[in-house]
This record gives sequence, structure tokens and C-alpha cells, in this order.
Amino acid sequence: MSTENQLQFVIEPHANATPADQIAAKLVNPAFGRVFSDHMVTIRWTEGTGWHDAKVEARRPFEIDPACAVLHYAQEIFEGMKAYHGEDGKISLFRPQANARRFRESAERMSMPQLPEAAFLEAVEKLVDIDRAWIPAAEGASLYIRPFMFASESFLGVRAAHEYIFCVIACAVGPYFKPGKSAVTVWVSDKYTRAASGGTGVAKCGGNYAASLIAQTEASNKGCDQVVFLDAAEHKWIEELGGMNVFFVLDDGSLRTPPLSGTILPGITRASIIELAAREGIAVDQSPYSFEAWQADAASGRVKETFACGTAAVVTAIGEVRHAGGEFRIGDGGEGPVTQLIRTRLTGIQRGRIADPFGWVHHVA
Ligand code: PLP
Ligand code: COI
Repeated sequence: MSTENQLQFVIEPHANATPADQIAAKLVNPAFGRVFSDHMVTIRWTEGTGWHDAKVEARRPFEIDPACAVLHYAQEIFEGMKAYHGEDGKISLFRPQANARRFRESAERMSMPQLPEAAFLEAVEKLVDIDRAWIPAAEGASLYIRPFMFASESFLGVRAAHEYIFCVIACAVGPYFKPGKSAVTVWVSDKYTRAASGGTGVAKCGGNYAASLIAQTEASNKGCDQVVFLDAAEHKWIEELGGMNVFFVLDDGSLRTPPLSGTILPGITRASIIELAAREGIAVDQSPYSFEAWQADAASGRVKETFACGTAAVVTAIGEVRHAGGEFRIGDGGEGPVTQLIRTRLTGIQRGRIADPFGWVHHVA
């Protein structure tokens, strides 16, 4: 047992860690979300005791009771971040403090205990350190880190649970979207919405994604890579995609992105692009933008480019838009120069290719 500031991590390395040649083979073409590293970190929380039992150990299944609260009421939150092999020879994380803060905010919204940001950061660093052999070196590849927390109490009454497990796992990943296309196609859902005012859209909780899957399936059935959600009140304003934020590039070279209205996820990539753009002298307008205006502006040429952004998606051009009333193309349907500039600058900083004037890169010793 310990109080928040005294968490001591017990380290029990995997007794049978994957040999280097097998890791190398797995890293050749990892795709997204299937190639898991050897270890995991866990920290437990119990009412009255607080955070305790911090451990780095071999990745293994949890044993949970059928009455485990998360299985019934979905009290669960998560984060997504990446570790890179920098071209400067160092291993780095991108703005991990921002993930730690958002994790705490998600916990607060979901009536879960707030893990101190220092403990979140230490857990992530310990996993990256012990599983550093799993970080792919190839451009576009990285170690995707998934911190998450769930209600682990066995109890069927509806209230905030009294026991939780925080866990971090990691997974070697390549690009989120199928390689070979310079831009993706999106489906605009006119039927389903992701989040309403007062709801949980602002939190990174599993339930948001569960509710979005039907729209993502609809998108796939229409031959699209991702779904675009409109606001719940009017079905008019563009909010975000199923797993990323969205930016529009206008003909005067400026950017526009939906504001943080309380119903979209405050993306760390989104925030970084806003700061990057300011440094490049590119204006960013954070104001509501309707689907109707997007369609008209794409036709008139006022919108030159559109891109999605997020940890998994990085910066990905949107080339084609399908909706119940038809489809339209953005620019020439490929990646435009502003999208390319933003992507090159962001990934340059993340991978240590160019200087980081913002202090975003966090080296792992
Ligand atoms: N919006 C949603 C719904 C997401 O799942 C994500 C990905 O985490 C984002 C936006 C982008 O957030 P970030 O840039 O912090 O990864
Ligand atoms: C991320 O970008 O980290 C996400 O959680 C989104 C998901 C599409 C993987």
C-alpha cells in the first residue's frame, strides 16, 4: 500500500521474453493493433487504500469475475500515444504530459479515481524502457502505447465502482490506414451522432467508441475508411471523425477546425497543429463549420484540402466524401501541399529530424 507520491513499481521481467530474431520478424509489417510487446504495467486502486501494487510484469490475461462492473456499465477510459526511435538515436514520447492530463480529466468525467500525472508518466516510461526492443525503426512505424483503466469491482448496483485497475500495454504499429493511398475516403453519417452536450464526447471513454461502431460499419459498407460525425442537436455542424479530429484548408491558406465545444475529443495532435500553424504564420479559425458549407466550399474551390489528425492517424488527407445525397471530392482527391507541410513538420519533430521549439519531445532515458 502507498499514498499517491510513494508508488514503488515492482519489476518482474518476463521469464520467457520474445527472442530478438522473433521480434525483428514481427516488426517487419506490424499493421495496427496486433503485435503486442512482452510486458504490461498495472496499478490498482481501492477505496480507502488509494493507488497501490504498481507492477511491471509479463503481459497476461486478467482474471475477472462475471459481475465485474466494467462488463456491465462500461466504466472505462483509455489513452493513445506513441514511442519513437528518433533519428537522433534517442527514444522519445510526444507530449506524454498532455495524455496524463487528459486521462485524469476523462477519469473525473467518468467518476473514476484520478491517477496522479507523475504515476501515469512513470508507468508509460517503465513499459517503454523494458520493451524498447519492440519499437520499430521504420518511418511511419512506432510503438503505440495504450494506457487504460477499468472498474474491476464485482458488484451489480449502478454506482461508481470502489475498485479499479490501471494498465498500460504496448503494440508495434505501422500506419493506421492501409498504405498505398495518398488520401482516405470518409462517410458522413446523417443518422448516428457521437456525443451530445452534457454527454461524454469530451472524455476518452470506451463507451464513446462502442456507440460509434455502427456508424463506422456503415462507413465501411459504403467503401469508406472513416466516419464523420455531425452535431447531435441539429445534425448540421461537423464535429470529428470516429477516431480523429478534422481540419480544412481554405483558399487563402488558412486552416479551419471545429471548436472544442464539449462534445469532441480535445486531440493532442489537433492542439499541436494549431501551435505549429501559428509558428508557420498560418491562421487557424476554430469555429463551427457546417457540412453544407464544406460541400459548397469543396465545389467552389474555397476549400482546397481537408485532413484528419490524431495519434493513430497522424495527419492524413481526406480526398473523397460520401454521404446519403451523393459524394464529392476535395481538391484533386490526393494530399495537398498544406496537409503535407503540417505532416512533415509534425513527424519531423516527433522523430527528432527537426528541432523542437515547443518542448514537446520527451526523451526516455
Ligand atoms: N478524436 C477521437 C474520437 C479520437 O479517438 C482521437 C484519437 O485519440 C482523436 C480525436 C485525436 O486525439 P489525439 O490527437 O490526442 O490522438
Ligand atoms: C488514437 O489515435 O490513439 C486513438 O485512440 C484512435 C483510434 C482510431 C486508434
